[in-house]
Amino acid sequence: MQKVIVTGGTGYIGSHTVVEFQNEGFEVVVVDNLSNSNIEVLDGIERITGKKPVFYKVDVANSAELEKVFAEHSDSIAVIHFAAYKAVGDSVKNPLKYYHNNVEGLINVLSKMIKYAIPNLVFSSSCTVYGQPEVLPVTEQSPVVKPESPYGNTKKINEEIIVDTLASTDFLKAISLRYFNPIGAHPSSEIGELPIGVPDNLLPYITQTAIGLRDELSVFGNDYNTPDGTAIRDYIYVCDLAKAHVVAVKRLLKSKEQYEIFNIGTGKGSSVLEIIQAFERSTGVKLNYKIVARRPGDVEKVWADTSKANKVLGWKAESSLDQTVKSAWEWERKVRER
Ligand code: UD1
Repeated sequence: MQKVIVTGGTGYIGSHTVVEFQNEGFEVVVVDNLSNSNIEVLDGIERITGKKPVFYKVDVANSAELEKVFAEHSDSIAVIHFAAYKAVGDSVKNPLKYYHNNVEGLINVLSKMIKYAIPNLVFSSSCTVYGQPEVLPVTEQSPVVKPESPYGNTKKINEEIIVDTLASTDFLKAISLRYFNPIGAHPSSEIGELPIGVPDNLLPYITQTAIGLRDELSVFGNDYNTPDGTAIRDYIYVCDLAKAHVVAVKRLLKSKEQYEIFNIGTGKGSSVLEIIQAFERSTGVKLNYKIVARRPGDVEKVWADTSKANKVLGWKAESSLDQTVKSAWEWERKVRER
């Protein structure tokens, strides 16, 4: 059985990815410090797949702790590296926390991969590296800019670190997946997004408002240059996104390319108001919301050209927006019942 190490494997995207790897017959070793996730996620994964992954409560920024994992699992064929802080606002207030954790985490992962000769890396990057693109949809060739936030900048820096490191070895290969906006939850509602405190992201804010945990959703700006004035993003179903990691590893195993980048989105942009409509339509629940000022640092519109992933990886987003949004609601309801 082929083995993969998944850092950040109890997190939102990580946990859905662990499920997809296990469903595809891989053995999975999860590394997570549980700083933004919960050990019970492993039970959810077990209920879905019938198998609990091997788990290490280890911080990737701690080289000595990480060493133990790699030493014990040096027969792994790939590392899927999610473990990172991701709160944009927090990163503006605490930049060094982000540079320390996200950049050092990757450096440690790469160092262990070299030491133990684990040849393949899938890195979780973000469309934030494109900033506000001049031409839409964005392709992998679109210019990369310095992102607005330190969080975003760690993604850009980490992509650069990967390129430089690959150039210095003859066996290491990597794929960076630039995610657009992941939303939704596994159809079983056994795992999903569980933000700690007040959510920053749109979908958890919507579902928490609908369930009564928040009074009202604030829509950040309706004066953008978009058809309804609200900002546009490419919202991708987290299970579709998770599957992209499995095909990325399969690609690494058979292709000769040392480094490739893929946009992982749906190829379609939706405005904030369209997401609210999709939520109300698919769930039958009416949402309280008001229009407020723009949120500093937000871009106006971004969506992906996914033709490279479609063609080279044979991967395509499958879930409809309504299904995806509804899955987030079903997860929210299940969480609050507990
Ligand atoms: C942000 C990050 C992105 C990161 C993603 C997931 C930037 C510029 N973006 O994406 O890199 O991968 O989070 O953590 O760094 N909105 C509201 N009301 C709310 C919340 C959001 O109107 O309460 C709007 C936003 O203004 C935006 C859209 O919903 O137009 C999506 O926001 P959000 O879910 O926070 O994701 P991004 O900001 O696109």
